[in-house]
Amino acid sequence: TQVKKYAQVPVGPYSGALHPTDYEDVANYTNYYEFSTDKKSSTVLAKNLQTSPWSIAVEGEAEKIGVFNLEDILKNNPLEERIYRFRCVEAWAMVVPWIGFPLGTMLKQFKPTSKAKFVEFTTLYDPKVMIGQKTNVLAWPYVEGLRIDEAMNPLAFLATGMYDETLPNQNGAPLRLVVPWKYGFKSIKAIVKIRFTETMPATAWSKMGPSEYGFYANVNPEVAHPRWSQSRERILGASIFTPKRKTEMFNGYGDQVASLYKGMNLAKQY
Ligand code: MTE
Repeated sequence: TQVKKYAQVPVGPYSGALHPTDYEDVANYTNYYEFSTDKKSSTVLAKNLQTSPWSIAVEGEAEKIGVFNLEDILKNNPLEERIYRFRCVEAWAMVVPWIGFPLGTMLKQFKPTSKAKFVEFTTLYDPKVMIGQKTNVLAWPYVEGLRIDEAMNPLAFLATGMYDETLPNQNGAPLRLVVPWKYGFKSIKAIVKIRFTETMPATAWSKMGPSEYGFYANVNPEVAHPRWSQSRERILGASIFTPKRKTEMFNGYGDQVASLYKGMNLAKQY
């Protein structure tokens, strides 16, 4: 039986009238290369990860740096639910009711300095448990990043749970990023370090394939991945007879985020 730990959490803004994908589909088809490149094996393998106690190192261009217990961070950040459309670069899409708190609210608590132009996030490195880290499919540890104004956008979210429950390990427990207008690979799991930087962080996917995975990674139907189109998407769990739907620019969140990219050529800065 599953514990409805978060059932009382209020639904926050931007949640729209989206119908959530089945929990089982979201929890059993995951990308978590630290465990496996197989989307089903990560469900089993990630059970070995110890998610409590958990601490997060805050480094770089901020006044309040140091190592913080996740429990203390949670005390300062009231939980809410955000029902977001989520889309992976491999062309599947889903709607997930995430439980967590806005990223920007938390980042401000560390008082970033005026030199903080980017935020870099790092996943745990522990190859004894994260056995996929014994392979070199990606450069470990997994690193992702956002420009500071992207990170402060009220849509950017940190999740500790989903569907009224604690986040399953395979979905990124105990703390994962959710950036709904960007491809799923931006949404880094099991975060252990947050670093404010003046220069653009080198991210794991762009190191692996710079022509395939850019820093911005905004959902953009007009920019094809070199090996496949991004113009349509498959709803996770839908039957193979269900036609794919058209991918929306910024995953449908253009009203909230398009202004962040004014003047940029998004075909070049993909
Ligand atoms: N975070 C870590 N640490 N390792 C990963 O392999 N995969 C990314 C992202 N976060 C990944 C990660 C990719 S490619 C996607 S599409 C999403 O997680 C998938 O999130 P989900 O498995 O919860 O659907």
